[in-house]
Amino acid sequence: MDRDPRTSRRSWAEPFRIKMVEPITVTTRGHRERAIKDAGWNTFLLRAEDVYIDLLTDSGTNAMSDRQWAALMLGDEAYAGSRSYYHLEDAVRDVYGYEELVPTHQGRGAEHILSQILIKPGDAVPGNMYFTTTRYHQERAGGTFVDVIIDEAHDPASTYPFKGNVDLDKFRAVIDEYGASRIPYISVETNVNMAGGQPLSMANLRATYELCREHGIYLMLDATRALENAWFIKQREPGYQDKSVREILRELCSYSDGATVSSKKDNLVNIGGFLALRDPDLARRARSLLVAFEGLHTYGGMSGRDMEALAQGIREMVETDDHIAARIGQVEYLGNKLIDEDVPIVLPIGGHGVFLDARAILAHIPQEQFPAQALAAALYVDSGVRSMERGVVSAGRDPVTGQNHLPKLELVRLTIPRRVYTQAHMDVVAESVVEVVASADEVAGLRFTYEPEDLRFFLARFEPIS
Ligand code: F0G
Repeated sequence: MDRDPRTSRRSWAEPFRIKMVEPITVTTRGHRERAIKDAGWNTFLLRAEDVYIDLLTDSGTNAMSDRQWAALMLGDEAYAGSRSYYHLEDAVRDVYGYEELVPTHQGRGAEHILSQILIKPGDAVPGNMYFTTTRYHQERAGGTFVDVIIDEAHDPASTYPFKGNVDLDKFRAVIDEYGASRIPYISVETNVNMAGGQPLSMANLRATYELCREHGIYLMLDATRALENAWFIKQREPGYQDKSVREILRELCSYSDGATVSSKKDNLVNIGGFLALRDPDLARRARSLLVAFEGLHTYGGMSGRDMEALAQGIREMVETDDHIAARIGQVEYLGNKLIDEDVPIVLPIGGHGVFLDARAILAHIPQEQFPAQALAAALYVDSGVRSMERGVVSAGRDPVTGQNHLPKLELVRLTIPRRVYTQAHMDVVAESVVEVVASADEVAGLRFTYEPEDLRFFLARFEPIS
């Protein structure tokens, strides 16, 4: 059977049925107008109860399977040497292929520890586009993040199939400028979140890894959405059509010295993460910080049951290709509906969500007045659909100059939780987006009423500019 939704003439459907449901609230427009005002026009500050369809993030919002819920009951809550830790270690070794596991409470815990053990003040850390928490920890350790993603990634309309690729010339230029000894590692993100959920190719990762080895620089993956990247490689890169995503994921990880993972995404759980490494000495250094910041080396911030459900989630996500085909199939379903209605979105459609091009939709609002923030608020008021700003507010300020980073991408992210919503929910979302885009000229720009110093997008408050 041809399971590829793009070439098959048959419909695909989710490889699961629903055993338990959770009611969600439908609210009135008046209620939502009050709620967004109370939330300072920041969708992070809305109460979840006031949200109808929650597309804020795919992080920790996954539905677990019956086998994962059953695994929770088997968690071993021993402080030291928990059986559940060893189950998790086995799963990471089997699926990702890294020998050394350093468990953390979530992805940023792993980023913190990796940054602290490898980065010295004055170092450069190249990366294929920044991620908010990743760059924060690199800068906090005294490093300077340098963007080495290909130019296509900054162009929402470019349909290049691997917009997550590292630009090797840009990477070489960083090596020339800083010298390899001041570049502890390159941080390579799979299925680049801020670029719109865009993959890198196996060939590009392999070439980047070779360049790293020539210069004695580590390659550290952010493998948070590596499974989604593996699916796109299977669809788009010659030679991978007949491989399983399990095999492709393993090969991706083979071109790296370690990885940070937020398990709240691909791994199908609600909390958890890890740092995985090959070098036992590096792992030893990581563990000695782990015990100070996260927890003992055999739980690192997760309970035994969390680790048990995570081990099961890791195995389940690659058991067959059907899970990832349906997961990305649903994202593409929503994206294609919006394309059919001429809504400007980031192309190609990403792995974990559909990204609206707020700069194109709200062309009358200058970037200093936060068009993506304003669009996310307007969408919520229209239908109770919650999305997230991924533009100038998320990008923050340059720590040296204090000026706003002005990213080329000014986006609103409609992020799809895994195994949670139905196709009918996606229809409602698409209709609301179309409605808001049609009346875009009614949306006003915003200004800060409170701007936090660190990771400002989470807690910032705004008001409309009348
Ligand atoms: N790396 C990537 C690529 C991420 O998308 C995230 C989180 C992290 C690291 C940090 O992991 O949240 O477990 O500490 N992304 C979420 C999102 C918050 O909504 O995109 P964490």
